[in-house]
Amino acid sequence: MENCVQKTTIEHLPAPSSRDKNEVLKTYYPPQLRAAIVGTGGIARVHGQRIRDLGSLVVGVCGRELSKAQTLAADLQPATPREDIASFDDLGRMLDETQPDVLHVCSPHGFHTGHALEAIKRGINVICEKPLATTVEDAQRLEDASEAAGIHAAVCLIQRSYPMVAELRARILSGEIGKIQAVRGTFLSWDSNHDNWGWGFDPKIAGTSYATADLGVHWLDLVEHVTDSRITEVDARFSTLRPKRFKDGVEINVQAEDYARVFLQLSDGTPGSAVFSGVCAGEPNACSIDVDGTDGGFHWQADEPNVLRHRRSDASVLTITRDPERLSADAGRLAFTPAGHAEGFGDAFKNLIRDVYLAIGGTAVAYPTFADGRRLVSTVHAIQESAQTRKAITID
Ligand SMILES: NC(=O)c1ccc[n+]([C@@H]2O[C@H](COP(=O)([O-])OP(=O)(O)OC[C@H]3O[C@@H](n4cnc5c(N)ncnc54)[C@H](O)[C@@H]3O)[C@@H](O)[C@H]2O)c1
Repeated sequence: MENCVQKTTIEHLPAPSSRDKNEVLKTYYPPQLRAAIVGTGGIARVHGQRIRDLGSLVVGVCGRELSKAQTLAADLQPATPREDIASFDDLGRMLDETQPDVLHVCSPHGFHTGHALEAIKRGINVICEKPLATTVEDAQRLEDASEAAGIHAAVCLIQRSYPMVAELRARILSGEIGKIQAVRGTFLSWDSNHDNWGWGFDPKIAGTSYATADLGVHWLDLVEHVTDSRITEVDARFSTLRPKRFKDGVEINVQAEDYARVFLQLSDGTPGSAVFSGVCAGEPNACSIDVDGTDGGFHWQADEPNVLRHRRSDASVLTITRDPERLSADAGRLAFTPAGHAEGFGDAFKNLIRDVYLAIGGTAVAYPTFADGRRLVSTVHAIQESAQTRKAITID
């Protein structure tokens, strides 16, 4: 029975991953920037609060409805304001009047392209929510335009910003579990486990994919990031488990998938499989990944973000704890509270925003770029094509 005992241990991995461009610096406060936000929903609030936590200023909030922008601006206003937060219902006017250093695009997916381009054409840096766009063409336009403008353009592929994901990547790339043999995982959510219709099912606002584009995109980025590989083939099947939804009592037929199952292959031939679902009872945000190697495996899940499980070949399981003093350099720079004092989603968001702000300030720090966002939109498109044709699709 000894093999079944789950031990908690702390391991030290001294060498930082040489593949990242990150300077191994650790700083809480990036340069103070002036930020504007478009979109006034749940994630806009997360961005606004994190911008303030990092010592930067929110100078403008723009919503489709001015009243919503005013409400969010009021909620984000510090008790002793250094600068008033102005409210707008016109993005161009907000950018011209407030002249921010960076625009946070927190609107629904289908507005990302138009909103980000407004900033790019003014030479303003952008942090855009995922998915970067709803079509490959729009995503490519954004990548091209941001490169031509020479701005910093980031997409909120937030899983990368958890310390234990950085630790997972460092340990995989150092060969700790040998050669990678298989990857698997999930992104399960209860967000749509009801019969209400929401904008996520409106193809004009959210595009034609739901579970893959909205949820799965996080996992698709995670698996590429931690393995330092690319997804080169997908073979998917879609289901719409709740095909009828209701808006103000009116029945609407849903076209987008709310459940996706995907077989995939990485560039080195590694096989993988994943399930993405927005209709999963009891699973608020179950993003999980398992990487199996010749000498063991790793497991990480977003709702227990402070630990990484190392499944070893002798059948014991090590629980590796987020301890800023003992993590690899890339992970340690993302961890701020001592071991045992949990960090979570809001801290990961701060890590992402901090890194982009540091890069804007001239520090060599890596972050998920519009090129990453475009590649993932292409992967989502390939998964959709595979589900429609019921054939495997190769990704260049
Ligand atoms: N990175 C993450 O972990 C994460 C988490 C949640 C949401 N998101 C992304 O954030 C985006 C917004 O999601 P949310 O959860 O905040 O949605 P939400 O439904 O809470 O809010 C959407 C908001 O956008 C506003 N809006 C609609 N059309 C607009 C327009 N034309 N101009 C300006 N505002 C408009 C709505 O009034 C609403 O306030 C989505 O793209 C979503 O995928 C990312």
